[in-house]
Amino acid sequence: MNSGRLLIVEDDKVVAVSLKMFLENLNFQVDSTANGAHAWELIQSQGYEIILSDINVPGLQGKEILKLIRQHGIDVELILFTGYGSVSDAVECIKRGAYDYFTKPIDNERLSLSIRHALEHKALRDENRGLRYELDKSSLNHVYFRSKSMELLVQKARIAAETEATVLITGGSGTGKTLLAKYIHGCSKKAGQPFVEVSCGALSEGLLESELFGHRKGSFTGADRDKKGRFEAARDGTVFLDDINSASIGLQAKLLKVIEEKTFERVGDTRQMYTSARVIAATNKDLRELSKKGLFREDLFHRLNVVSLAIPRLSERKEDVPILVQQFLQKFSRKHKRNIKKFDEWVLPALCHYNWPGNVRELENVMERAVIFCRDGEVRLSDLPEEISGLGKGLDLKGPNMHLSDAVQKFEHHLISQALELNRGNRDKTARDLGISRATLFNKMKKWTFAAKSENVGATGFE
Ligand SMILES: Nc1ncnc2c1ncn2[C@@H]1O[C@H](COP(=O)(O)OP(=O)(O)OP(=O)(O)O)[C@@H](O)[C@H]1O
Ligand SMILES: [Mg+2]
Repeated sequence: MNSGRLLIVEDDKVVAVSLKMFLENLNFQVDSTANGAHAWELIQSQGYEIILSDINVPGLQGKEILKLIRQHGIDVELILFTGYGSVSDAVECIKRGAYDYFTKPIDNERLSLSIRHALEHKALRDENRGLRYELDKSSLNHVYFRSKSMELLVQKARIAAETEATVLITGGSGTGKTLLAKYIHGCSKKAGQPFVEVSCGALSEGLLESELFGHRKGSFTGADRDKKGRFEAARDGTVFLDDINSASIGLQAKLLKVIEEKTFERVGDTRQMYTSARVIAATNKDLRELSKKGLFREDLFHRLNVVSLAIPRLSERKEDVPILVQQFLQKFSRKHKRNIKKFDEWVLPALCHYNWPGNVRELENVMERAVIFCRDGEVRLSDLPEEISGLGKGLDLKGPNMHLSDAVQKFEHHLISQALELNRGNRDKTARDLGISRATLFNKMKKWTFAAKSENVGATGFE
């Protein structure tokens, strides 16, 4: 059973009618027109799979139709018919992307074979496009992990994605809350719809309400026209409420209503609006604690807490560090057009040893910096910030062409940074401990900061 939709563009009535009958007998759905311009109208509106066109038709010539199809990016295969005189034109059209051509009189059997191949060709292309889309989608918001805790969390997130449930994501700064929210949206049926992000901490109470729900003209000073809110912008998609703890108690009541009843009102308007968007909220605060203190509505907390995903700090899942390092290395090598594939033996232990107070974001930044500063295709300990490399192995004084003066400088740098760390950045005390003047200490720090920027002497502690 054939299901392809075909269009015949042929002004020779006899050819057109016999071809239509032949193809309909093969169960294709066939339309026919004798005019090229009319054909172009049909092609734009009817979604054909294959166009069978004479190369010389009134209105628009076959090659002009081909040009328009390509210009407009219409996904259709074109098969051309020519008389003996215009074979060279047909060959030219093949070069420009037509699928096949036939000289008249047309051999119907060969034509039906070509149509089948063209349909297969198109199906394969559609499939590839679908796969590529899936790939883009998945690599875009990919959550990388190796730890059991993240495996369970991502599993839970996937289950939540299949439902319309409101989700609460908690976790320290930079643990990947926003990424997880995007991932849930991307895995859900809402993936083709907008993902609208609103940071509740970034706007004052009044502005936040109008940002979320919109407002009516004249409802407050400056509201000079009606404005749609983010819930309307999200349509059937996802509204991501970041830093939900920053929403005022008054606004929390409205958020509870929009989550429970799916309705809201624009500021200064009494009409009820309906939304089918899903809410995902995130916070790096303990909402239970806040609600105990009366700073967060308890009912909203319980409503949000039904599906709650708590992302552990990176220090609690060090098993994730190597895969993240690998991913960021690739990502930033591509971004900065560097061919960096490996790191020396001390880098990974140092990265795994470090405590990552800034979580995955800090690791991401450290890797970008390492890729930028790395000199010969291999990331070394000295490409990492001092607070990380210092923990990995202490002082790294080996390396090719390490001159005595370099080593002395490095050693001095190491001693001073350690002393500064011990004295919590107090320069007077550090200078006294090291038996140098405050001015000498200051000059050395300035020199290293400059050197770190131009030469990568790993002096972030001083910046
Ligand atoms: N598991 C992961 N795999 C890959 N990249 C990650 C992962 N976790 C976090 N990231 C990346 O780390 C960075 C910080 O993540 P994200 O912005 O999602 O954190 P956050 O918890 O929302 O931070 P904040 O509290 O500041 O809002 C982003 O660039 C994100 O893509
Ligand atoms: Mg975030």
